[in-house]
Amino acid sequence: MLAYHQRTKHHLHHYAASLGYLDWATQPDPFRTYVGAERVELPLLADRLDVAYADLYSPGVVPAMPLERKSVAMLFELALGLSAWKQCEGSRWALRCNPSSGNLHPTEGYAILPEMPGLNAGVYHYVSRDHCLERRCVLEGRAAQQLPGSFPPASFLVGLSSIHWREAWKYGERAFRYCQHDVGHAIATVRYAAAALGWSARPIADVSDTAIAAVLGLSQPESFSGLAEQDREHPDALLLVGPSHPPGKGQESEGIDVTKLREVLQSGAWVGRANSLSPAHVRWPAIDAVAEATWQAARVTETGRCGGAVIEDKFAAWPVHTVVSSQINAARLVKQRRSCLSLDGITSISAETFYGVLDRLLPRPGVPPWDVWPWPPHLHCGIFVHRVRGLPSGLYLFERSPTVHERLRSALRGDFLWKRPEGCPEYLPLFELVEGDFREQAQGVSCHQEIAGDGAFSLGMIAEFAESIRAAGAWWYRKLFWESGLLGQVLYLEAEAAGVRGTGIGCYFDDAFHNLLSLGGDHFQSLYHFTVGGPVDDPRLTTLSAYSHLDDARFETT
Ligand SMILES: Cc1cc2nc3c(=O)[nH]c(=O)nc-3n(C[C@H](O)[C@H](O)[C@H](O)COP(=O)(O)O)c2cc1C
Repeated sequence: MLAYHQRTKHHLHHYAASLGYLDWATQPDPFRTYVGAERVELPLLADRLDVAYADLYSPGVVPAMPLERKSVAMLFELALGLSAWKQCEGSRWALRCNPSSGNLHPTEGYAILPEMPGLNAGVYHYVSRDHCLERRCVLEGRAAQQLPGSFPPASFLVGLSSIHWREAWKYGERAFRYCQHDVGHAIATVRYAAAALGWSARPIADVSDTAIAAVLGLSQPESFSGLAEQDREHPDALLLVGPSHPPGKGQESEGIDVTKLREVLQSGAWVGRANSLSPAHVRWPAIDAVAEATWQAARVTETGRCGGAVIEDKFAAWPVHTVVSSQINAARLVKQRRSCLSLDGITSISAETFYGVLDRLLPRPGVPPWDVWPWPPHLHCGIFVHRVRGLPSGLYLFERSPTVHERLRSALRGDFLWKRPEGCPEYLPLFELVEGDFREQAQGVSCHQEIAGDGAFSLGMIAEFAESIRAAGAWWYRKLFWESGLLGQVLYLEAEAAGVRGTGIGCYFDDAFHNLLSLGGDHFQSLYHFTVGGPVDDPRLTTLSAYSHLDDARFETT
């Protein structure tokens, strides 16, 4: 795993291995379907949700929706659904609520549902293009009745998996990293969507990848027979979602019985064959190797436990939000989230807005979206401030954990200022390291991409790396990237709420950024970059609505 990380770094004069060109003939289908599985069309109702974005951060304010087909439909629409189509010179492509590197979307979504109004018990795969659920596992009679016993009442499971090939087709060996970012983004979009319905969402932290594969049907031989290895799915995460879990409740009693769940689902009838995604594939052995090395084995028991306790115990210290968030409609904000191809190099934001965005990156007990993350924060931000009114331009450090200060201080350059910015809220762990114009350096380390220097600020997410991986095991590598994806989605939405725009940056020169901070060794590593600023629209692109290709009946209320 450590060797994979090292070999997939981009360097100033040498990029990580990839084909180097786009082979359009083998471009993977961005939509997985299971041929032969019954399709359950979902209504399109998210636009009618009358919930303010600001309220997502205030536990208890949004009334909990009942668990039924309509609310499950809204969850998927806001978490993994399409947000628009773009069109340019005869090409047309879909955008989704969950961002993805290169818009390649390796992440697949599943639901394990108990019987509920409008939906039968079973395992379902979500198809974002058609906003429908494919019923992969049919449970009837005793099995259907037993399923709710596997997890708490008024809740269900959302599963996530990745098709690494979708990213590897374009990005080669570095693609495994991008798939992990996207799992993190998707965990965040599920958490925000659940919050908009007044629900909680918690990962089943201890469950093994083998168990996830089993309950999502990813190890069903008939479903994938004859399919190229690269078109298969890698299990990632299971989240317990629904109205029954007030944020911050105890953990142990909320545990799900994965062994029982596997038994119940084994007795069901599995239906459908996965579609082939590409006529031919390129094999990237480094990805296969790191996927195997970071496979999460069962730890202690197969009984998954929902996380949250660690954050509650350790990070109750952050004061309650003082930030006033946008009153914009939450569903509208989630759907209007976009990346930008170019930033104007002019737009600035106020220091107050900047501090507000940083505040949202701090985990607090029971507060979305970070209540979805059961581990203490391991990622911090090295920030290039370019255009923040009231704050000198320069290089800053934002610490997301109260325990990291001394370690970072001794790891970074000795002559850094470590100055608290004037006017910065006392509790916000932001430090000015060097004052100056860092636009050129920000662009330079971000593979020369102008968006890194043309925004109000850009940043690199610095992970507590080798020691935390050695302590936990190689599977932890994926979790670090997931945390970075969560950070990315918070930044995307916060930028949108502030009237500017964000863009994830996966292409950066790893060690060039480390060198800028004098970070040697592998105690800390940069895992994801991000930029925020005033967008410049591309006039050649036309935007079409997300689901105009579907029947009008889907938009009806009843
Ligand atoms: C992990 C990640 C890495 C990305 N890296 C870059 C990048 O290096 N340069 C860039 O211009 N855009 C980058 N993007 C933006 C994506 O290309 C964009 O998210 C994708 O085209 C989907 O568009 P949307 O975000 O508007 O839905 C990245 C996005 C993600 C999520």
